[in-house]
Amino acid sequence: MDKIFWQDYKSALFPVPVVVVSVDSLKGPNLITLGWTGILNSDPLMVGISVRPSRYSSELLHQKMVFGLNIPKKSLAFGVDYCGVVSGRNEDKVNTLNWHVFKSNNLGVPLVKEMPINAECEIKQVIPLGSHELFLAEVKGVYVTPEYLDENKINWASLEGLVYTSKSYWIVNESVYKSGQSLQELKK
Ligand SMILES: Cc1cc2nc3c(=O)[nH]c(=O)nc-3n(C[C@H](O)[C@H](O)[C@H](O)COP(=O)(O)O)c2cc1C
Repeated sequence: MDKIFWQDYKSALFPVPVVVVSVDSLKGPNLITLGWTGILNSDPLMVGISVRPSRYSSELLHQKMVFGLNIPKKSLAFGVDYCGVVSGRNEDKVNTLNWHVFKSNNLGVPLVKEMPINAECEIKQVIPLGSHELFLAEVKGVYVTPEYLDENKINWASLEGLVYTSKSYWIVNESVYKSGQSLQELKK
Protein backbone atom coordinates (compact mmCIF):
# COMPACT_ATOMS: atom_id res chain seq x y z
CA MET A 1 0.00 0.00 0.00
CA ASP A 2 1.67 3.24 -1.09
CA LYS A 3 0.12 5.28 1.74
CA ILE A 4 1.62 6.58 4.95
CA PHE A 5 -0.38 5.81 8.11
CA TRP A 6 -0.63 9.33 9.46
CA GLN A 7 -1.11 10.12 13.15
CA ASP A 8 -1.97 13.81 12.84
CA TYR A 9 -5.49 13.05 11.65
CA LYS A 10 -7.00 16.19 13.23
CA SER A 11 -5.39 18.48 10.67
CA ALA A 12 -6.15 16.00 7.88
CA LEU A 13 -9.80 17.06 8.04
CA PHE A 14 -8.93 20.12 6.02
CA PRO A 15 -10.13 22.86 6.46
CA VAL A 16 -12.47 23.84 9.28
CA PRO A 17 -14.51 27.04 9.30
CA VAL A 18 -13.46 29.79 11.66
CA VAL A 19 -16.26 31.52 13.53
CA VAL A 20 -16.36 33.93 16.42
CA VAL A 21 -19.09 33.22 18.93
CA SER A 22 -20.43 36.13 20.97
CA VAL A 23 -22.12 35.65 24.34
CA ASP A 24 -23.36 38.22 26.82
CA SER A 25 -21.97 38.45 30.33
CA LEU A 26 -22.50 40.84 33.24
CA LYS A 27 -19.34 42.67 32.09
CA GLY A 28 -20.57 42.95 28.48
CA PRO A 29 -20.24 40.64 25.47
CA ASN A 30 -17.42 38.10 25.29
CA LEU A 31 -15.98 36.64 22.07
CA ILE A 32 -14.45 33.19 21.45
CA THR A 33 -12.95 31.85 18.22
CA LEU A 34 -14.09 28.34 17.28
CA GLY A 35 -13.12 25.83 14.64
CA TRP A 36 -15.31 22.92 15.76
CA THR A 37 -18.59 24.10 14.25
CA GLY A 38 -20.96 23.45 11.38
CA ILE A 39 -24.50 23.37 9.97
CA LEU A 40 -26.24 20.23 11.23
CA ASN A 41 -29.86 20.52 10.15
CA SER A 42 -31.81 22.51 7.53
CA ASP A 43 -35.35 22.65 8.88
CA PRO A 44 -35.19 24.10 11.44
CA LEU A 45 -31.78 25.49 10.60
CA MET A 46 -29.43 24.18 13.29
CA VAL A 47 -25.74 24.59 13.99
CA GLY A 48 -23.37 22.95 16.42
CA ILE A 49 -20.45 24.43 18.30
CA SER A 50 -18.03 22.38 20.39
CA VAL A 51 -16.56 24.18 23.37
CA ARG A 52 -14.21 22.95 26.10
CA PRO A 53 -15.89 23.26 29.54
CA SER A 54 -12.77 25.08 30.81
CA ARG A 55 -13.42 28.10 28.53
CA TYR A 56 -14.92 31.22 30.10
CA SER A 57 -17.40 31.20 27.18
CA SER A 58 -18.66 27.76 28.21
CA GLU A 59 -19.80 29.19 31.53
CA LEU A 60 -21.60 32.02 29.70
CA LEU A 61 -23.22 29.70 27.15
CA HIS A 62 -24.67 27.57 29.97
CA GLN A 63 -25.98 30.70 31.70
CA LYS A 64 -27.52 32.44 28.68
CA MET A 65 -28.46 29.49 26.42
CA VAL A 66 -28.26 31.87 23.43
CA PHE A 67 -25.31 33.12 21.39
CA GLY A 68 -24.23 34.95 18.26
CA LEU A 69 -22.31 33.21 15.48
CA ASN A 70 -20.13 35.63 13.52
CA ILE A 71 -18.47 34.72 10.22
CA PRO A 72 -15.21 36.60 9.73
CA LYS A 73 -13.28 37.74 6.66
CA LYS A 74 -9.59 38.02 5.79
CA SER A 75 -9.10 41.56 7.06
CA LEU A 76 -10.31 40.52 10.54
CA ALA A 77 -7.67 37.77 10.98
CA PHE A 78 -5.85 39.65 13.76
CA GLY A 79 -9.00 39.94 15.87
CA VAL A 80 -10.11 36.40 15.13
CA ASP A 81 -6.78 35.05 16.32
CA TYR A 82 -6.79 37.32 19.37
CA CYS A 83 -10.25 36.03 20.41
CA GLY A 84 -8.82 32.51 20.19
CA VAL A 85 -5.76 33.06 22.38
CA VAL A 86 -6.97 35.46 25.08
CA SER A 87 -9.64 34.71 27.70
CA GLY A 88 -12.54 37.00 28.45
CA ARG A 89 -11.99 36.23 32.12
CA ASN A 90 -9.20 38.83 32.10
CA GLU A 91 -9.86 40.92 28.98
CA ASP A 92 -12.64 42.89 27.33
CA LYS A 93 -11.92 41.61 23.82
CA VAL A 94 -14.58 43.73 22.08
CA ASN A 95 -13.14 46.89 23.56
CA THR A 96 -9.50 45.97 22.91
CA LEU A 97 -10.26 45.23 19.26
CA ASN A 98 -12.46 48.33 18.94
CA TRP A 99 -15.18 46.18 17.38
CA HIS A 100 -18.84 47.13 17.70
CA VAL A 101 -21.77 44.96 18.72
CA PHE A 102 -25.45 45.25 17.93
CA LYS A 103 -28.35 43.36 19.50
CA SER A 104 -30.13 40.78 17.33
CA ASN A 105 -33.84 41.21 16.60
CA ASN A 106 -35.23 37.95 17.97
CA LEU A 107 -32.99 36.83 20.82
CA GLY A 108 -31.24 40.08 21.72
CA VAL A 109 -27.81 38.44 21.48
CA PRO A 110 -24.73 40.57 20.79
CA LEU A 111 -23.47 40.32 17.18
CA VAL A 112 -20.25 41.79 15.81
CA LYS A 113 -20.93 44.56 13.31
CA GLU A 114 -17.52 44.25 11.60
CA MET A 115 -18.19 40.58 10.68
CA PRO A 116 -19.85 40.16 7.25
CA ILE A 117 -22.37 37.49 8.36
CA ASN A 118 -23.98 36.98 11.76
CA ALA A 119 -26.54 34.54 13.11
CA GLU A 120 -28.53 34.57 16.34
CA CYS A 121 -28.77 31.10 17.87
CA GLU A 122 -30.79 29.47 20.63
CA ILE A 123 -29.25 26.45 22.39
CA LYS A 124 -31.55 23.40 22.37
CA GLN A 125 -29.27 20.68 23.68
CA VAL A 126 -25.85 20.30 25.26
CA ILE A 127 -24.07 16.98 24.67
CA PRO A 128 -20.86 16.09 26.53
CA LEU A 129 -18.46 14.44 24.08
CA GLY A 130 -15.28 14.07 26.08
CA SER A 131 -12.87 16.99 25.83
CA HIS A 132 -15.65 19.28 24.48
CA GLU A 133 -19.37 19.85 24.89
CA LEU A 134 -21.49 20.08 21.77
CA PHE A 135 -24.05 22.91 21.91
CA LEU A 136 -26.83 22.25 19.41
CA ALA A 137 -28.60 25.47 18.53
CA GLU A 138 -31.41 26.69 16.32
CA VAL A 139 -30.69 29.68 14.09
CA LYS A 140 -33.34 32.33 14.67
CA GLY A 141 -32.08 35.06 12.35
CA VAL A 142 -29.23 35.88 9.95
CA TYR A 143 -27.68 39.27 9.14
CA VAL A 144 -25.44 40.17 6.19
CA THR A 145 -23.41 43.31 5.52
CA PRO A 146 -24.96 44.68 2.28
CA GLU A 147 -21.62 45.16 0.49
CA TYR A 148 -21.25 41.35 0.35
CA LEU A 149 -24.62 40.85 -1.32
CA ASP A 150 -24.79 40.54 -5.08
CA GLU A 151 -28.33 40.16 -6.48
CA ASN A 152 -29.42 38.75 -3.13
CA LYS A 153 -26.64 36.13 -3.04
CA ILE A 154 -23.55 36.30 -0.86
CA ASN A 155 -20.50 37.22 -2.91
CA TRP A 156 -18.02 34.78 -1.36
CA ALA A 157 -15.14 35.87 -3.58
CA SER A 158 -15.24 39.43 -2.31
CA LEU A 159 -15.91 38.31 1.27
CA GLU A 160 -12.70 36.23 1.43
CA GLY A 161 -13.91 34.02 4.29
CA LEU A 162 -11.40 32.55 6.72
CA VAL A 163 -10.83 28.86 7.25
CA TYR A 164 -8.29 27.19 9.53
CA THR A 165 -5.92 24.28 9.28
CA SER A 166 -2.45 23.26 10.54
CA LYS A 167 -2.14 26.30 12.79
CA SER A 168 -2.77 28.77 9.95
CA TYR A 169 -5.66 30.82 8.65
CA TRP A 170 -6.50 30.57 4.93
CA ILE A 171 -9.08 32.24 2.72
CA VAL A 172 -11.81 30.90 0.47
CA ASN A 173 -12.21 33.19 -2.51
CA GLU A 174 -12.62 31.14 -5.69
CA SER A 175 -15.37 28.85 -6.91
CA VAL A 176 -13.92 26.11 -9.10
CA TYR A 177 -16.93 23.89 -9.92
CA LYS A 178 -20.73 24.20 -9.71
CA SER A 179 -22.89 21.70 -7.86
CA GLY A 180 -24.70 19.48 -10.41
CA GLN A 181 -22.19 20.39 -13.14
CA SER A 182 -20.97 16.77 -13.28
CA LEU A 183 -24.42 15.56 -14.41
CA GLN A 184 -24.57 18.23 -17.09
CA GLU A 185 -21.16 17.19 -18.39
CA LEU A 186 -22.23 13.53 -18.50
CA LYS A 187 -25.31 14.46 -20.56
CA LYS A 188 -23.18 16.11 -23.27
C1 LIG B 1 -8.46 28.98 15.21
C2 LIG B 1 -8.94 28.61 16.59
C3 LIG B 1 -9.96 27.69 16.75
C4 LIG B 1 -10.42 27.34 18.01
N1 LIG B 1 -11.43 26.44 18.14
C5 LIG B 1 -11.91 26.12 19.35
C6 LIG B 1 -13.03 25.23 19.47
O1 LIG B 1 -13.58 24.75 18.50
N2 LIG B 1 -13.48 24.95 20.74
C7 LIG B 1 -12.90 25.49 21.86
O2 LIG B 1 -13.35 25.20 22.98
N3 LIG B 1 -11.84 26.35 21.77
C8 LIG B 1 -11.35 26.69 20.55
N4 LIG B 1 -10.30 27.57 20.44
C9 LIG B 1 -9.68 28.12 21.65
C10 LIG B 1 -10.47 29.31 22.25
O3 LIG B 1 -10.86 30.22 21.26
C11 LIG B 1 -9.57 30.04 23.29
O4 LIG B 1 -9.24 29.16 24.33
C12 LIG B 1 -10.18 31.33 23.84
O5 LIG B 1 -9.15 32.11 24.37
C13 LIG B 1 -11.26 31.10 24.90
O6 LIG B 1 -11.83 32.34 25.24
P1 LIG B 1 -12.73 32.55 26.55
O7 LIG B 1 -11.92 32.06 27.72
O8 LIG B 1 -12.97 34.03 26.57
O9 LIG B 1 -13.97 31.76 26.37
C14 LIG B 1 -9.82 27.93 19.17
C15 LIG B 1 -8.78 28.85 19.02
C16 LIG B 1 -8.34 29.20 17.75
C17 LIG B 1 -7.24 30.21 17.60
